[in-house]
Amino acid sequence: MSVEVHSIVLALVGAALVGAALVGAALISGCKPETEPVERGTAAPLRTIARELPVDDMDKAKQALAQDAWRREHRFLDAVEPGHLFASTRVDQVEIDHQLWSSDELYQLGGQLFTHQFTRAEGFGGAEPLGLRRFHDGRRGGPDAFGCTSCHWRGGLAGAGDAADNAMFNGDGVHQSSTVARNPPALAGAGLRERLAQQMNTELALARDQALARAAAEGHAVRVPLQAKDVRFGYLTARADGTLDATEVAGVDSDLVIKPFGWKGTFGSIREAAEDALLVHHGMQTTTLVDEGDPGRVGSRGGADPDGDGIAQEIREGQLSALVLFVAMQELPTEEIPNLDPYLATLWARGRLDFETLGCASCHVPALVLDDAVYTLEHRDGGPDFAVDLSIDGAAPRLERGAQDDGFALRLYSDLKRHRMGAALAESRNELGANADEFITPPLWGIARSRPYLHDGRAPTLDDAILLHGGEAQASRDAFASLDDAGRGPLRVFLTSLVRATRLVTP
Ligand code: HEC
Ligand code: HEC
Repeated sequence: MSVEVHSIVLALVGAALVGAALVGAALISGCKPETEPVERGTAAPLRTIARELPVDDMDKAKQALAQDAWRREHRFLDAVEPGHLFASTRVDQVEIDHQLWSSDELYQLGGQLFTHQFTRAEGFGGAEPLGLRRFHDGRRGGPDAFGCTSCHWRGGLAGAGDAADNAMFNGDGVHQSSTVARNPPALAGAGLRERLAQQMNTELALARDQALARAAAEGHAVRVPLQAKDVRFGYLTARADGTLDATEVAGVDSDLVIKPFGWKGTFGSIREAAEDALLVHHGMQTTTLVDEGDPGRVGSRGGADPDGDGIAQEIREGQLSALVLFVAMQELPTEEIPNLDPYLATLWARGRLDFETLGCASCHVPALVLDDAVYTLEHRDGGPDFAVDLSIDGAAPRLERGAQDDGFALRLYSDLKRHRMGAALAESRNELGANADEFITPPLWGIARSRPYLHDGRAPTLDDAILLHGGEAQASRDAFASLDDAGRGPLRVFLTSLVRATRLVTP
């Protein structure tokens, strides 16, 4: 009991301190006092997911054992009072708006939600008594799992999933053949990936606006190449009448907005993906989705409880914010060069070159420059946005600025562009503007910790994944295929160096 009591006491002291600091800040800045002063509700982070990475192995072991002790104790506490863990995550967005929560505390609350197993009393599923559904029923989904970690676990917290964890999306609810199977991707580095896409989107929008302005000024159509951060996206033609011809745009939707998440590049942000995941995998509905009220998504019973399970406000906006920040603040994957062994080190260096000469780097672009690492969670209701500098406040290891202060080299191994990968990899149908055989280049950072590979997890090894490339990647795939087994070794060694930092975890 002592750890628990201790952490609650600490949380209370912390709340009092933050409260006092806020009053102080308001007095100093002379802010107009709110008519309704906002105080923290009953939410309190109970769990500690370490954001720092101890250098010393002994400290790592202590951290892992402390987390294990916490889990064991929590099982007893949960037996006494089921649901107290979920209740402790019920943060209101207005508390976040008033800066009553630090990014670290929100990370803890979000982590608590990410590792939580949702129950019916909390809103899991819909009106049906158990209602688990392996094959999703349209955009309403399953539910098919009790928590995010059911699928995002391999290679560490918020990791990838095995083939058995594949989600069977968007079917008729009964037949596997009606669904599209997707393998859970790893989420490390997700916040930085979203920020990169945002910056690229700004460049693409600027190119479009400039083309439109030129076409209007010159009185004739203007055809311009589209490029963002060294990645080319075909051509856009602006006409003098202010309309656009996007037929030559390549690898991105005609709205020129890169959506960096989902295997086909269909989710614009972590929030979009997480809100969707809560709904389709767990039947946990956010207040926003309930307000939108689309019966095909939330159920047809209307009102505040459209899925008819007797629970309203299943996920508050503030809880979603915490969950999103937890995912966004996941650490940067690392590269573990085997330089203690000269033989392996030589193969690794050779493999890194092969990655270029075989043409892999043309899509899996090793590094793109990120101007800043500030992740911003936009407010959806006119309130203040919540910003976190991931080079300071994210989980370690964090992105570090280059020596010349010329931005951050983000070693993502992706161009964030969709490519046609050939008939053999094609799904049974097109989706949201992406062709059946089109996929966004998946980042290869952390790849050694996320098998199986490809969108449906069909490739058990890296060799299999490469040999299954087709379409735009055919030449690159054939070049790899023409090597004998020894010749492929160096590339395998190089890819094996793309990992996540070592963390000790207890099962
Ligand atoms: C049943 C397995 C499953 C569960 C449970 C699950 N996910 Fe996922 N997740 C997936 C799959 C599969 C994808 C890829 C979706 C696609 O390609 O459209 C994904 C994608 C994502 C993405 C986008 C990442 C990317 O790189 O494309 C985020 C963010 C995410 N999930 C968060 C969550 C959160 C938060 C939860 C819990 C609320 C959760 N997921 C629960 C399977 C799962
Ligand atoms: C034309 C662009 C392109 C080229 C060239 C290319 N890839 Fe890919 N790669 C992709 C896309 C798109 C996918 C996702 C396909 C899918 O999931 O069905 C992918 C998937 C992968 C995966 C699996 C990733 C995962 O998370 O499951 C690996 C590993 C990989 N590629 C390595 C390579 C290597 C090594 C080369 C060079 C021999 C290469 N790729 C060349 C676009 C490319």
